[in-house]
Amino acid sequence: MSIPNIIPFHKPYITDDEINEVVDSVKSGWWTIGPKTKKFEAEFNDYIGSNYSVSANSWTAAAHLALEAINLQEGDEVIVPAITFTATAEIICYFKAKPVIVDVQKDSFNISPVEIEKAITKKTKAIIPVHYAGLPCDMDEITDIANNYNLKIIEDAAHSLPATYKQKKIGTLSEITCFSFYATKTLATGEGGMLCTSNEEIANRASIMRMHGMNRDAWNRYTSQGSWYYEVIAPGYKYNFTDLQAALGLAQLKKVDLLYEMRKTISDLYDTAFNDNEYLITPHKQEDRESAIHLYPLRLNLNKIKINRGQFIEEMKNRGIVCSVHFIPLYRHPFYRDTFSLCHSDFPVSEKIYAEQVSLPIWPGMTDLQINYIIENVLDIIKLNAK
Ligand SMILES: Cc1ncc(COP(=O)(O)O)c(C=O)c1O
Repeated sequence: MSIPNIIPFHKPYITDDEINEVVDSVKSGWWTIGPKTKKFEAEFNDYIGSNYSVSANSWTAAAHLALEAINLQEGDEVIVPAITFTATAEIICYFKAKPVIVDVQKDSFNISPVEIEKAITKKTKAIIPVHYAGLPCDMDEITDIANNYNLKIIEDAAHSLPATYKQKKIGTLSEITCFSFYATKTLATGEGGMLCTSNEEIANRASIMRMHGMNRDAWNRYTSQGSWYYEVIAPGYKYNFTDLQAALGLAQLKKVDLLYEMRKTISDLYDTAFNDNEYLITPHKQEDRESAIHLYPLRLNLNKIKINRGQFIEEMKNRGIVCSVHFIPLYRHPFYRDTFSLCHSDFPVSEKIYAEQVSLPIWPGMTDLQINYIIENVLDIIKLNAK
């Protein structure tokens, strides 16, 4: 096996479309929020089939705006899964509210509806289900719980563009869904995010609050169609998207289904190579939903091999393949562990998954040589270390 240079964990898919759109924006002289941002919001909204789409400069910003729009207050509680990125929980802390971290399901790694129901108290205000790796959560069960207890749902769809649940696109199921356009995501603009909502009031509030709490189409105020006059109605944030980001977004949105197909091809090849291997467990599938395949979370059967997950990743790195882990569970981070007095033993499923999980590189543009090299090396490391 000869090494085809280093295979990075991620590489963006850049064509002349992206370059030309960005150059067009640079030359136009309109670099901040403006016409391309409006166009991207409209096209994204059509693609998802949402009622309103409000862009922001990250998922974190979009979801912060969402919690502000539902009027989250100090002392409120919001239920989140243990296996996610810190952003899902940190935004709750911005309000001096409490992220209530619950265990996940053992196959999908998604938040467990049973654990959600157990965690509900009088202070619970909302649930943030994370569609892990792109695979949608049990949204029917979660929606029923939210309706029964009068809770809001804000879907963390950072991984799940484009994903479907019972034939409906993620972004159309709940009142609020937030997407990420971070550099490694399935539609990337470097940094960026989108709040999709069925509720006009939430869309209006988020639009105002992302731009300093200014009450008019503030982005427009330097054009001849706009007006210099505005009023500040709340202490808002500087969370707006820019036309330079929207240029990338418009080009990427045109090929978002093609990029999905490219990831699916790689995922199918990995599945075929690893499915019947007693040392490996391939990502979970569910018939009533389609994952966006943002990640390929492989699991090691630690009962049958002599090395641990960290050693496996090190060995892959020695062979020129960069892998990752998604995620270090929230309760393992000092901030969440110490602030909310959390113990590893309260999260048995997440603990097991964390020990076994490794994310293989999966990005559009990977060559057959690279894919085969990864497969051969996974199998070789496993074979050399079988118990
Ligand atoms: C599950 C999840 N939620 C939220 C985020 C935050 O997204 P952003 O970087 O756009 O704020 C990420 C980023 O990686 C993520 O993986």
